[in-house]
Amino acid sequence: MLQVPARIGGRPVSAAEWIEVRSPWDGAPVGRVPALTGAHIAEACEAAAKVLARRDFPQHARAEVLARAAEMLTERVEEFAVTVARESGKPIADARAEAARCADTLRFSAVEARKLAGELVPMDASRGGLGRLGLAIRHPAGVVAAITPFNFPLNLVAHKLGPAIAAGCPVVLKPAELTPISAIRLVDLLVEAGLPGDWISVVTGTGPETGTPLVEHPVPAVVSFTGSVPVGRRIQRTAAGKRVLLELGSNAPVLIEPGADLQRAVAAIRRGGFAYAGQVCISTQRVLAHRSVYDRVLELLREAVSTLRLGDPLDERTEVGPLISAAATDRVVDWLDTARAAGASVTGGERNGPLLAPAVVADPPRHLDVYRQEVFGPVVTVTPYAGIDEGIALANDSDYRLQAGIFTPDLAVALRAASELDFGGVLVNDVPTFRADQQPYGGVGDAGNTREGPAYAINEMTELRFVSVSA
Ligand code: SIN
Repeated sequence: MLQVPARIGGRPVSAAEWIEVRSPWDGAPVGRVPALTGAHIAEACEAAAKVLARRDFPQHARAEVLARAAEMLTERVEEFAVTVARESGKPIADARAEAARCADTLRFSAVEARKLAGELVPMDASRGGLGRLGLAIRHPAGVVAAITPFNFPLNLVAHKLGPAIAAGCPVVLKPAELTPISAIRLVDLLVEAGLPGDWISVVTGTGPETGTPLVEHPVPAVVSFTGSVPVGRRIQRTAAGKRVLLELGSNAPVLIEPGADLQRAVAAIRRGGFAYAGQVCISTQRVLAHRSVYDRVLELLREAVSTLRLGDPLDERTEVGPLISAAATDRVVDWLDTARAAGASVTGGERNGPLLAPAVVADPPRHLDVYRQEVFGPVVTVTPYAGIDEGIALANDSDYRLQAGIFTPDLAVALRAASELDFGGVLVNDVPTFRADQQPYGGVGDAGNTREGPAYAINEMTELRFVSVSA
């Protein structure tokens, strides 16, 4: 099996134990990465601290590296897409889209590297400030510990590395154990583009063996984590005293109001609920349909979902591939069984080898996991509501509020939804599954505490230093 070393301080690193990375579709080997442990993590953090102290990688050079890497990736989209598809099971068309987005994320990060500045403080605005020149200057916050998930093994890595490089923060990256190879290849590409080799260390391994010592190590000043709520909350406790940036779970709702174009809404849900088998934080999970359109929405959605093409992620026609692991599939199957046992009408949801047929659950009791928790699988629930007050209340009744959508022809309703849906993002006449890489992206409640998107993440990775100059 292809051995893919980790990297610490610019050196390739192997270990006594290796982790095999296999395709979730057919178990085919993709490569193996070393299972690093605490001593490696300490070495990586100490190397990053030395890089930070050097202060020898100025803004223009950081911007140039990021822009060059974006162009190189654009030329190599296919190669990166195949790696993503093989290790994550993401359909190849979606993997290509992810690689192209990743290039955009690097481009936007390059722009931020050029712009990074601060502001003038109007010192003569107070009597005590008279006679001084006041500056608030952005400085790197320190070493960033980045911990990334399996579902966007390239672009969600870029959303941490890009802003960190732009900000001037060296990184110790711990990619997802199941999909580490795309991340290592991305760091290789950045180094090829001119990033000093020791600027980013990649530490591969399990959460307990690598993630925990990384979060506990005194060097990282910032911990940026995307993943599950329990792990995020644990990191927050362990990393007390550090800046902890969290992107966590969601069970994103979309409201369908009377008069909405139902064909358009259902076509968007067909994609938003089932792309990458629902393993997207903003996957459309809870469809809330006004009572007057509920039956028709359910009918159209069941029809639309039955046409989704399931299969091999490397097949160009595939729209829905496997879930990341058998254990993930077991959990979703169990939640669907519970919904059936509770009397909900479930269409789809049959298991066929590594595939799980897309499922539509009609009006499930609202305490069930398929409605209340994050399914992270190919499942959409449909729930009726009586009026916009109830629709908004149902949408907001969730611990995870990342993004919400609403389909309505009524501008007044749209504006009300934009104001009253208590989410990190509100999409009018779209599903919540839309994301552009330059937008502020993040949630409320258990969905997280930060906003990604290079222009926003860079603020989280810098400190404002006030400088007062007197004659
Ligand atoms: C996520 O799953 O949080 C990322 C979604 C995206 O970038 O499209």
